[in-house]
Amino acid sequence: MKLSGNTILITGGASGIGLAFAEQFLKEENEVIVVGRGEEKLFEAKKKYPQLHTRACDVSKEDERIQLVEWVIKEFPQLNVLVNNAGIQQRVNLLNASNDWKYYQNEIAINVEGPIHLSMLLIEHFMKQKEAAIINITSGLAVQPGTWVPIYSATKAAMHSFTLTLREQLASTNVEVVEVLPPAVNTDLGGVGLHTFGAPLNEFISGIFDGLRSEKREIGYGGTEKRLTATKEVIEQGMKNAWQNYLKNNPDFLK
Ligand SMILES: NC(=O)c1ccc[n+]([C@@H]2O[C@H](COP(=O)([O-])OP(=O)(O)OC[C@H]3O[C@@H](n4cnc5c(N)ncnc54)[C@H](OP(=O)(O)O)[C@@H]3O)[C@@H](O)[C@H]2O)c1
Repeated sequence: MKLSGNTILITGGASGIGLAFAEQFLKEENEVIVVGRGEEKLFEAKKKYPQLHTRACDVSKEDERIQLVEWVIKEFPQLNVLVNNAGIQQRVNLLNASNDWKYYQNEIAINVEGPIHLSMLLIEHFMKQKEAAIINITSGLAVQPGTWVPIYSATKAAMHSFTLTLREQLASTNVEVVEVLPPAVNTDLGGVGLHTFGAPLNEFISGIFDGLRSEKREIGYGGTEKRLTATKEVIEQGMKNAWQNYLKNNPDFLK
């Protein structure tokens, strides 16, 4: 995809990886609209980058997704890129789950329903543009599940699968479909202070933009780049090792 002169909607764009995408896209001279639930986070992002456009929307809610798309097409008819980035991550002990299905369902609604529905709502509009792109932010855990985040891993595997089929169906159109598979990156994902062991955000974003510049369709970084071509045996062993390591650091997790 071309990296300048686009009009880009980024969900979850007021913090973390989404905001880093927004910053880089602004530097490359694009119009950028960021979306999130928290007005305060949006306000802070706008204070830092006055040229950003912001809009409150909870992507887990069907009516809010529809309103967002109606609003953005009306205000920014030249919109041609969607970055499906908003996501949450919950650690879940399946041996001792609560009866509160809504708590678990919310992770599926944000991580899967949101991006699939937003993509479907925007395809028709994107096909009228000269060039367009849908960028889905999945995870290395789409390929090698994290046992401590079982629902999260399933949502990311679902989005990996959807991205593959979306790309095939749109193959003969002007709409490119790109998947970004981050490794652990230092953000507030899952709660403040839980992701401090990963890649620095600026280095990660710089690697991902190198991938975009070289027209890659599946962009990993560090460990997740290797995972894209790893054998089943390597993935299974990696999953087991990561789980053992997690249990060592969190011995009470399954209690
Ligand atoms: N950090 C990592 O290690 C890592 C690794 C692999 C994949 N990822 C993926 O990268 C993406 C970004 O995560 P991050 O690490 O940047 O986490 P983050 O710092 O927690 O950012 C997530 C963003 O999503 C927004 N969001 C959450 N729920 C939303 C909803 N229902 N509607 C609209 N916006 C919502 C949040 O804003 P509000 O709370 O204000 O809504 C926040 O701005 C996620 O899809 C995540 O799964 C991250």
